[in-house]
Amino acid sequence: MWNKLESRLKQRQAQDLIRQRLTLESGQDTEVSVNATHYVNFSSNDYLGLASHPKMAETMISAVKRYGPGSGASHLVVGHSKEHNLLEEELAEFVGTERAVLFSSGFMANYGVLTSLFDRKDLLVQDKLNHASLIDGGRASEAKMLRYAHNDLNSLQRQLKHQVDTKIIVTDGVFSMDGDLAPLPEILSLAESSQSQLMVDDAHGFGVLGESGKGSLEYFELEQGRVDIYMATLGKAIGGYGAFVAGKSTLIEALIQFARSYIYTTAIPPVVAAVNREGLRLVQSEPELRQNLQDNIQYFKQLAEEARLPLMPSDTAIQPLMVKKSDAAIRISQSLRDRGLLVVAIRPPTVPENTARLRITLTANHTKAHIEQLIEAIKDNIQVIP
Ligand SMILES: Cc1ncc(COP(=O)(O)O)c(C=O)c1O
Repeated sequence: MWNKLESRLKQRQAQDLIRQRLTLESGQDTEVSVNATHYVNFSSNDYLGLASHPKMAETMISAVKRYGPGSGASHLVVGHSKEHNLLEEELAEFVGTERAVLFSSGFMANYGVLTSLFDRKDLLVQDKLNHASLIDGGRASEAKMLRYAHNDLNSLQRQLKHQVDTKIIVTDGVFSMDGDLAPLPEILSLAESSQSQLMVDDAHGFGVLGESGKGSLEYFELEQGRVDIYMATLGKAIGGYGAFVAGKSTLIEALIQFARSYIYTTAIPPVVAAVNREGLRLVQSEPELRQNLQDNIQYFKQLAEEARLPLMPSDTAIQPLMVKKSDAAIRISQSLRDRGLLVVAIRPPTVPENTARLRITLTANHTKAHIEQLIEAIKDNIQVIP
């Protein structure tokens, strides 16, 4: 085993694909400290800046006095608290579904849905660029899985021709490494005309998109009830941790009874549930955060277009810069770091071969000066970009 692992690691190193963890010495924020050096952070998913919002910290401090730090057990034993219940009720009410259930992470939510609800008579049809947790859940599911070309409705339609008990289309609402949106109105029409179900993973849309932050469906003015399974995470725009699935009562009860990644794991601590509740309140009470984020996205795009940077087609907070080669992506990322800017290079296997990129993410708390600094630094590296 050791020889095999060492040779795999060496191979990864030789291909410029080895990952290194950054160790933050500060909290997650627009400006962070790594190795005693100060950086402007363009790599977090904390789109509204809630992870560092003072009210989140205050909520945690008062909740920890009441509940302590841990949850002590899984939900079906004695780990389920009133805070979990209230959060589930508030999430369901906010998105407009009958019920919601919390999972300990988004990975576990997606995995739990796809491995517990479908059997070998069913068909999962997934976008090729769906998040790894959906793809892994699909692979582990008893159901047959087919994939369609990214956001390609013809390709999707072809996969839906199969005659099976249940067909379920699975898509990210916002694609995590590309920042583009799934064409949900068209996908929904295809789902309805082919008697298929639809699951949307809105990890990067929830809290951010739509007038009131309800996510991708609100953005497209689609009724929540038309989507069968809605999943979103709480560790991104909400600024906390965990995830939930929302939908009809039957769906939620089935997950509680059958999803092994729900049943056989420790519940997120009640203090984290309390913090998530605060995050959800802030999403509703501070809409100016979404406006700041939108302003920052527009400003970044305007400057990037003026500088003719090869941005990918995205209107969301995820604004990747396509570099293609992994070694070039690392070089630019390092050069930006030397200028106090943190932009992580995303390489295969996270993204397809020859599509390494700098995944720039904007947040509500970036200033114009931060964005100008980033654009200037990228411009000075433009010769490295093909
Ligand atoms: C689209 C998408 N789905 C699911 C997840 C997993 O969520 P979590 O980090 O809560 O496990 C992520 C990212 O982490 C994601 O980007």
